[in-house]
Amino acid sequence: MASVPSLSASLQQRVSAALTAAAPSADGADPLLRRSDRADFQANGVLGLAKRAKANPRELAAAVLAALPEDDVIAHVEVSGPGFLNITVADAAITANLAARAADGRLGVPPLEHPGTTVIDYAQPNVAKEMHVGHLRSSVIGDAIVKILEFRDETVVRRHHIGDWGTQFGMLVQYLIEHPHELDHTEGETDAGEASMSRLDRLYKASGALFKSDEAFKDRARRRVVDLQAGDPETLALWQRFVDESKIYFDSVYRKLDIEIRDEDIVGESGYNAMLVETCDLLEKAGVAVWSNGALCVFFDDIKGKDGEPVPLIVRKTDGGFGYAATDLSAIRDRTGNLHADTLLYVVDVRQTLHFRMVFETARRAGWLTGEDVRHLPFGTLLGKDGKPFKTRAGESVKLEDLLDEAVQRATAVVREKGEKIGLTEDEILANGAQVGIGAVKYADLSTSLGRDYVFDLDRMVSLNGDTSVYIQYAYARTRSIFRKAGAAAVAAAHPELALEPAERALGLHLDAFADSLAEVTATYEPHRLASYLFQLASLFTTFYEQCPVLTADGGPAQVENRLFLCDLTARTLHQGLALLGIRTPERL
Ligand code: ARG
Repeated sequence: MASVPSLSASLQQRVSAALTAAAPSADGADPLLRRSDRADFQANGVLGLAKRAKANPRELAAAVLAALPEDDVIAHVEVSGPGFLNITVADAAITANLAARAADGRLGVPPLEHPGTTVIDYAQPNVAKEMHVGHLRSSVIGDAIVKILEFRDETVVRRHHIGDWGTQFGMLVQYLIEHPHELDHTEGETDAGEASMSRLDRLYKASGALFKSDEAFKDRARRRVVDLQAGDPETLALWQRFVDESKIYFDSVYRKLDIEIRDEDIVGESGYNAMLVETCDLLEKAGVAVWSNGALCVFFDDIKGKDGEPVPLIVRKTDGGFGYAATDLSAIRDRTGNLHADTLLYVVDVRQTLHFRMVFETARRAGWLTGEDVRHLPFGTLLGKDGKPFKTRAGESVKLEDLLDEAVQRATAVVREKGEKIGLTEDEILANGAQVGIGAVKYADLSTSLGRDYVFDLDRMVSLNGDTSVYIQYAYARTRSIFRKAGAAAVAAAHPELALEPAERALGLHLDAFADSLAEVTATYEPHRLASYLFQLASLFTTFYEQCPVLTADGGPAQVENRLFLCDLTARTLHQGLALLGIRTPERL
């Protein structure tokens, strides 16, 4: 029995439900309805149905056609090819459906049917170290997923698992004790974030050099690690200075990136320190982990190295120290046990895939994961134009801030060219340049499917033609300019009684699919589906704009209102969709 479509159902869902109901004796068979060039939709599901029933597909298609109810959604159906159904919906149904979306503050996007709690691990840079392009991807993708899930009423707990613990802090703290003014701030610093990073970087390099060259310092640094792990107050206070100094830097990068990172969500590796001993004990007692060559290890039948020897997950090292794995296992205990996560997401570089596979399997064996949906969402590498991992000319990894600054600069040049023509002030040009530049970086990242590597090419990213955020932002700005021209008295109103031009139907049907597209994104955690939806929407709007005059429509005032209505719904959908990707929509471009 097909369910009764709700008010917010898309036309595609309604047609699909009607087809399912009309199919003989095939409860719930998916009609496989797709958008099509020949008609509005094509259903291919009859082919499979016929095969199973050993029936003639064209005859079966005709039977389904005959059984379709007479309603005001479907205007025309025909059987085509080997047994496809080509379906055209009524103009009035399109406009009426859009009117229902427009009347809803959520644009007809329903909350999840069963919202739960998702803990998402993303944006996890390392203390005292420069952020690199990998941290960019994790932050941008994670931020979009958070926004999309929250929009659908999922409870989202954000966790920034920053690298703030480990043996290197013994060296850093010891060096600071011996050179107590190295982290002092100088007066009148203009860029606090940059100044912090350069202090940290200097300290990191100097202490590292000493660690290598001076045996006595090395000893003192090692003893300092023990103090740190034992919670010695003086050592902890100095360690905290490194964390605080780094946060000044992280903050400045995230502000540039236009991503909100809240302090209470930063729970780094150190946050699980108190659980590490217990985590190891529990694993050992349960027989999940065993001692091997002095280390506490977990083994897996199907994970072996090149030599055929098993590769273990090491939870406690031979020197008694705890590593990355022990921290992640403790974090899982916290996330399921205390935070009651139904879903755990990890937006982390693809190179950590094996780590997460082993950690998840270990947690399952230990009973810390019991049926929760746990996923590593691995992302690929940013490549330079030469197709190799993105590096500076000197072969160093690219500083995230430099890259963002350059994107903003390029975008500002693009914005300036048009902006001067439409009379933008210098302040507006700079503000738009930032929104376009950062949008371009985020969009390039989000429009690529997660696992794939992609080439960081600023020329392409800020281009006005092609699959870019600037293109979409321009479409949005164009809608706003239409309304400015129309004046305050202009009315945007749906008129279902009007026949639609082909460009209006195409735009309308796509607008109607916004909720369906978001449903896919939530089910797959693939933001690129939303990016491509929005790009298509901007393209369809551009075609509509070229083919259908809005303010001078020759069908009279009702047609002007209906076209303004389409412009308005397009604007709201673009704005909402880009906002979910963390991208701003300037009003004038
Ligand atoms: N800080 C790590 C890095 O820079 C990423 C942390 C990922 N999250 C985790 N729970 N292990 O590579």
